Amino acid sequence: MAFRALFLSVSLALACADPVAYKDCGSDVGKAAAVEVTPCPKIPCELHKGQSYSVNVTFSSYVESKTSKAVVHGIIAGVPIPFAIPDDDGCKSGIVCPIEKKSYSYMNQLLVKLEYPSLKLVVKWELVDDANKDLFCVLIPVQIVS
Ligand SMILES: *[C@@H]1O[C@H](CO)[C@@H](O)[C@H](O)[C@H]1NC(C)=O
Repeated sequence: MAFRALFLSVSLALACADPVAYKDCGSDVGKAAAVEVTPCPKIPCELHKGQSYSVNVTFSSYVESKTSKAVVHGIIAGVPIPFAIPDDDGCKSGIVCPIEKKSYSYMNQLLVKLEYPSLKLVVKWELVDDANKDLFCVLIPVQIVS
C-alpha cells in the first residue's frame, strides 16, 4: 500500500515536468539550457486537441533588455507558418524585466485548438530582445492527435 502510494507520487512528479529533447536553432544574445513541455512523456510530444500544455524554456541572456517577445512558428513540411499565441510578452511569461545577463525560465501555455489538423510538425519557439535578436531559439517536435 505504502509502496503503491510512493510509486503513484513518483509518477505524478514525473508527469509534472518532462524535459524534452529539443533542437537549438541558434541564438545571438542568449542560449537555451533546457526545455520542458508538460505533459510530454515522449518525443514527439503528443498534443491532444482541446488540451493545454505548458512550455518552460530555461535560458541565459548575454544582454540586458527592457522587453522580450515570443515568436512562434509551426514548421509543416519544412515551411514555417506564423503561430499566434494569446500573450507574446515574455515579461508576462515568468520573466521579470528588465532582463539582465543571467538565467531565466520562460513559461507559457500552448492550447491545442479542436480545429487544428492532425499532423506532425516542429514548433519553433523564439524569444527576442529589444533589438529583435534571439535570446533563445528552440525546435520542439510535436504530433497533433485527436
Ligand atoms: C522550468 O525548468 C527549469 C529547468 O529545468 C526548472 O528549474 C524550473 O523549476 C522550471 N519551472 C517550472 C515552473 O516548472
